[in-house]
Amino acid sequence: MLKKINEATNFIKSKTDKEFEFGIILGTGLGGLVNEINIELSIPYKEIPHFPVSTVQGHSGNLIIGELSGKRVVAMQGRFHFYEGYTMQELTFPVRVMKFLGVKKLLVSNAAGGMNANFEVGDIMIIKDHINLFPTNPLIGKNYDELGPRFPDMSKPYDLQIIETVENVAKKNNIKVQKGIYVGVSGPTFETPAEYKYMNIIGGDAVGMSTVPEVIVARHMDIPCFAFSIITDLGVDGKIVEVSHEEVQIVAQKAEKILTKLVKLVLAEL
Ligand code: HPA
Repeated sequence: MLKKINEATNFIKSKTDKEFEFGIILGTGLGGLVNEINIELSIPYKEIPHFPVSTVQGHSGNLIIGELSGKRVVAMQGRFHFYEGYTMQELTFPVRVMKFLGVKKLLVSNAAGGMNANFEVGDIMIIKDHINLFPTNPLIGKNYDELGPRFPDMSKPYDLQIIETVENVAKKNNIKVQKGIYVGVSGPTFETPAEYKYMNIIGGDAVGMSTVPEVIVARHMDIPCFAFSIITDLGVDGKIVEVSHEEVQIVAQKAEKILTKLVKLVLAEL
């Protein structure tokens, strides 16, 4: 594993001699952020040694290197999901590489179904914590002590100081944000009404099929994380309607402008 991470890292480093501050996983709802990055270099995943290649519609696969709000960023345009059949180790491999590239903070976005009765379709939710309901954990198996501890602390999965900054920036700029707990599931089925209810009872505000594996791996390596969900549909009793991938994309695209603005403002402050 370490050899593979080093090979991927060295390949990327051979193409640029600048440092990296932020890692960004451009999930649903942040795809358009690419257009705001002052791009130095775009590397297709398939050229990077050991990188997985993405299959989902709406997720292209490039590693984007450049500058955003004056910060050096390395961004994943297109992410990997457990339901596509990747192992947890495969789909979190790029996060390992980001650490080796020297990133100091990780930003993640996703689309999610909202279980909180106060949420509306199109809302942006700051993730303050998560519940891992994936059937497994990316850290199962041999632990590489060079990467992080066998039993990583998870008391601060999302950086409290960054969350405070996000809330301040949102308030100052009149951007409506919610804050809540993200439940990570494997998918690919959306939830049944009973499952939404269950996830709400156990403390979840939103549910989605990503982010948790990447954040676990980032925290294993002690990278501070912050993440956003775009609420694309509601799993609230009485408001549940049929969901489709297409609808999720349409709602996410509408909210994307606002989330992009928020992220640019936040990065400038960090
Ligand atoms: N459930 C799981 N994943 C999702 C949802 C949902 O309702 N909406 C967008 N991604």
